[in-house]
Amino acid sequence: MNRITYTSIVKDDNPSLRLKSAVLNLPLQKKYIALAKRMLRYVKDSRDDEKAQKYDLKPAVGLAAPQVGVNVQIIVVVVDDEDGNFIEYCLANPKIISHSVQKTALSLGEGCLSVEVEHQGLVHRSARIKVRAFDVLTNEMVEFRADGYLAVVLQHEIDHLNGVLFYDHINLSDPWKVEENTLIIE
Ligand code: NI
Repeated sequence: MNRITYTSIVKDDNPSLRLKSAVLNLPLQKKYIALAKRMLRYVKDSRDDEKAQKYDLKPAVGLAAPQVGVNVQIIVVVVDDEDGNFIEYCLANPKIISHSVQKTALSLGEGCLSVEVEHQGLVHRSARIKVRAFDVLTNEMVEFRADGYLAVVLQHEIDHLNGVLFYDHINLSDPWKVEENTLIIE
């Protein structure tokens, strides 16, 4: 199984990152299961300094299939939540089925493996979301709620499936302005 490397990640000068990704038929074809697992491997291994160095992996908390050159609806997310729990998702056809009115934003802004230029500013997102998706690891449909940092990362990755990049959300005239009813995550 060949590895995804940072060098091979599609960067934002490539118009394919702006396409909408295709919804996948279920059950997933083997090639898409393999793709999802390669993506998960990248993100997990990128958290390990030694492997990151050895295999050319820039640290990441998530990845979407368009970033590896395949415009289909697959995302992976690997984070430690506020309580220190290890959380990983490997999802096909993820859909946000409801979201809070309250917003949230990371105090330092966001970054992305596909974006080499720094874009400073707050990225406002929903503070809480409910997601429906096909879980590639358990091979079943799932529905779950997410908030805090996890919700931010999920929304960032799902945005990729719609051709949206984090800096599209930055208010260019006042990048650090906190919108009303927004929880800032330090
Ligand atoms: Ni990204």
